[in-house]
Amino acid sequence: MTTKDLTEAELRTAVEREMSRARADLEDLVRIPGIAFPEFDHAEVDRSAEAVAALVHGCGLDTQIVRAGGRPAVIGRRPAPPGAPTVLLYAHHDVQPPGDEALWDSDPFEPVERDGRLYGRGAADDKAGLMAHVVALRALGDALPVGVVVFVEGEEEYGSASLAELLRLHHDKLRSDLIVITDSANWDIGVPALTTSLRGIVNCVAEIRTLHAAVHSGMFGGAVPDALTALVRLLATLHDEAGDVAVEGLETGRESTLELSADRVRAEAGMVDGVRFTGTGSIADRLWTKPSLSVLGIDAPSVLESGNALVPVARAKISARLAPGDDPVKAFAALRDHLEAYCPWGAAISVDLDGGGAPCVIDTTGPHYETTRSAIRAAWDGVAPVEIGVGGSIPAVSTFQAEFPDAEIVVTGVEDPHTRAHGPNESLHLGEFARVCLAEALLLNGAARPIG
Ligand code: BES
Ligand code: MN
Repeated sequence: MTTKDLTEAELRTAVEREMSRARADLEDLVRIPGIAFPEFDHAEVDRSAEAVAALVHGCGLDTQIVRAGGRPAVIGRRPAPPGAPTVLLYAHHDVQPPGDEALWDSDPFEPVERDGRLYGRGAADDKAGLMAHVVALRALGDALPVGVVVFVEGEEEYGSASLAELLRLHHDKLRSDLIVITDSANWDIGVPALTTSLRGIVNCVAEIRTLHAAVHSGMFGGAVPDALTALVRLLATLHDEAGDVAVEGLETGRESTLELSADRVRAEAGMVDGVRFTGTGSIADRLWTKPSLSVLGIDAPSVLESGNALVPVARAKISARLAPGDDPVKAFAALRDHLEAYCPWGAAISVDLDGGGAPCVIDTTGPHYETTRSAIRAAWDGVAPVEIGVGGSIPAVSTFQAEFPDAEIVVTGVEDPHTRAHGPNESLHLGEFARVCLAEALLLNGAARPIG
């Protein structure tokens, strides 16, 4: 099947040749608002899966759309030449909701280029991640020396609820020696990264009730507790004075050896002047190896609709990021126990799990890692990848680790410090995207003969 091995120079030319078509295909994908969240139109996620399947099929792979009760994933396969390894290429085609469209400088679902960046929801996270697989396969064509399985899931941004079942159902088809996950970030423009750990996540909704119904705040306030004040007091117990998580039973991972500068994080996050950091330890550890707790939303009367009445019931969505090594089931129990124990004034409380995913630690010592490092270094003109932790979550990594314990896993991606994934004005750096594509083509080209 292999016609001949391509040289690095030939692959560079082949990838460059593919970039304009890839750009057009990426733009078409961005125009499909495939959002797996329940309140969005899932016909768009189906349409997105069909578009992805057409691209994967176009690379000469046997392609099918699969589901296991959730949103559709795409599987494409091309068998390995005799004796060659098989590489699984993962990405996700669903995207985050756009949020308040008024905060975008252009339509989130109409891609536009400004200053070398392509703007649009999913332009980076993770439609460019899946296009990197397509470009690498197109560039290699029939010279592809390994077997490949492309797996593009359709509900990563909504917690990958049916992923474990999909991997179980299609286990034999997905079996591979190396799994390349392009859903993470690079260190900086011009500086690539390999992700070595990701935090896990547990979201929950706490509901507090103090009254059967709202009553006059003057007649009863002072002796009768309102649910919103009770909730606020409860939420205030989640952190200590220093801003560290105060919930017992959440683990802390191994300290990071890499440092992240406070100024960089302040600028990237867009912290308002005068706002201080929370927590203790290095900034890298606070973001990558320690747990965090945030309140993401509250249901209570809005200021406009509030009268002089005691609030009978209030709810908060609380999100925990879990240190590498922690367990989401144990972490949810710890969080629920804390909320129940600290709920003030005998108020009634219920805590419901609202999705989660396990953290992961990635072993970067396997034989395919040297090939990966050298491919990345070549694509970035001699700059070696930095090994980073990531504060965000890709539940798929631990799901793949559990289903395929013998496979090596490489986690890379197209995001950079200016991507603004999940926020308004998400964008992709087109120059860095071309390097990601080249690195992947070089990796696939070299994977038949690992140098590690
Ligand atoms: N691509 C991100 C993960 C990520 C974030 C990698 C930052 C590198 C830097 C991924 O698509 C994501 O956002 N995942 C969700 C998972 C959740 C819904 C279970 C997240 O972290 O919120
Ligand atoms: Mn992603």
